[in-house]
Amino acid sequence: MTDTTVTPAPQRGRKKLFIKTYGCQMNVYDSERMRDVLTPLGYEPSDSPEGADLVILNTCHIREKAAEKVYSELGRLKPLKEEKAASGAPMTVAVAGCVAQAGGPEIQRRAPVVDLVVGPQTYHKLPELIASVHRGRGEALDTEFEVEEKFDALATPDRQIEGYTAFVTVQEGCDKFCTFCVVPYTRGAEWSRPVDQIVAEVRALAAKGVREVTLLGQNVNAFHGQAPSGHEADGTWGLGRLVRHLALIGGIERIRFTTSHPKDMDEELIETFADEAKLMPYFHLPVQSGSDRILRAMNRKHSAEEYLAIIERLRQARPDIAISGDFIVGFPGETEGDFEATMDLVRQVGYAACFSFKYSRRPGTPAASLGAQVDEAVASERLARLQALLGEQQEAFNRSMVGKALPVLFERTGRHDGQISGRSPYLQAVHCDGPESLIGQIAEVEIVSASRNALAGRLTGGKRSAA
Ligand code: SAH
Ligand code: SF4
Ligand code: F3S
Repeated sequence: MTDTTVTPAPQRGRKKLFIKTYGCQMNVYDSERMRDVLTPLGYEPSDSPEGADLVILNTCHIREKAAEKVYSELGRLKPLKEEKAASGAPMTVAVAGCVAQAGGPEIQRRAPVVDLVVGPQTYHKLPELIASVHRGRGEALDTEFEVEEKFDALATPDRQIEGYTAFVTVQEGCDKFCTFCVVPYTRGAEWSRPVDQIVAEVRALAAKGVREVTLLGQNVNAFHGQAPSGHEADGTWGLGRLVRHLALIGGIERIRFTTSHPKDMDEELIETFADEAKLMPYFHLPVQSGSDRILRAMNRKHSAEEYLAIIERLRQARPDIAISGDFIVGFPGETEGDFEATMDLVRQVGYAACFSFKYSRRPGTPAASLGAQVDEAVASERLARLQALLGEQQEAFNRSMVGKALPVLFERTGRHDGQISGRSPYLQAVHCDGPESLIGQIAEVEIVSASRNALAGRLTGGKRSAA
């Protein structure tokens, strides 16, 4: 989860748009859709707010730090907006995303620089909302939950695309209500897109040269989308069936999905890992804690044992599968013993990569009002110990690739002349010397060295395959 900037693809137009994206991949996908919906209005790219007529901050509410970043960015935008207004070039500032959904009118009270607040389900209304700001009708606020309408209006098959990999949101929202988490409040109830709509989008992406799609959802393995035409009698399809179906689309070589919940793992999905070669053998399955007591307090709805059983079943189905996860340390009431249980679970699983966070108290969530909040210094010390272990595991996993031949999807030129870079099936960055003509293709690379964050190798000239 990093801050990223989506720069609109060049298009004829007179107005400039700058979107800054915080948070998860679903926000990255949404930023691209906002760009697409604004392009016909004549918005073209700006790589800084200085040059922009419209600035959109697509925000994240997951941890306090993420949410606060937005207000510091708004603070920076204020003098810029004033300066531009004085020179007769008014700038519109919009706050989108999960802070918009959670904060609503409060945002404009706290930061009057904001002209427009728009929640994640109403991006299709952006043109209308911007027009209303321009007409000077005052405050514009739209944070309803109308997820179905959003996708009908936004996810047009003719989305703009750069590169060879793409995100496709297939599911939104969450009904799990983990006691620490804001997502059920910012993204609403679980909802799945109909299969026909997803297929149309992936086909169009493939036609534009995309080779790898990552299916997104806050609970992506809870996917239950309306079955496609010709299969109406099935009612809905699960994620495994969807993956197999998308694998049939010509040009699509690799499929991934994120993020899954242990409670929604079904046998069909596990089987899909076993027999669908285009589904990459890399699986993100957050567990948060290894202590059953804490898992219960988090309302995760499963035990450590049940999580480990899923991992074992996955490894039987696909022996080369690598696992990544998310962890929270310092959840209210977490003792040293609970934390040790987490460390034990990590040792048992052996992760390829992980995200780990210090618990952040989020107002309005059930855990926020629990007593026994863990001392900040204790949580920091535990996080450091956990990250040291996870870092060692990641390095060991990368080193285990040395000597192997991996299919790499090349995406860009590398840091020096003649170098090209891409991703392994396990999402590792791989660098090697090779012709630019391989960019957009999958070629085999023999790995010769590994560090914590990347692999280096040489082209074998070997056959191209997905994984
Ligand atoms: N739906 C996914 C994750 C969504 S949020 C799941 O259920 O796993 C991404 C990650 O942020 C979570 O897995 C969790 O590790 C972290 N997170 C969520 N709320 C948090 C909080 N209040 N404090 C710290 N980390 C949090
Ligand atoms: Fe948040 Fe839990 Fe839902 Fe994941 S499953 S989005 S952690 S409430
Ligand atoms: Fe953040 Fe919202 Fe994603 S809170 S992690 S941007 S769903």
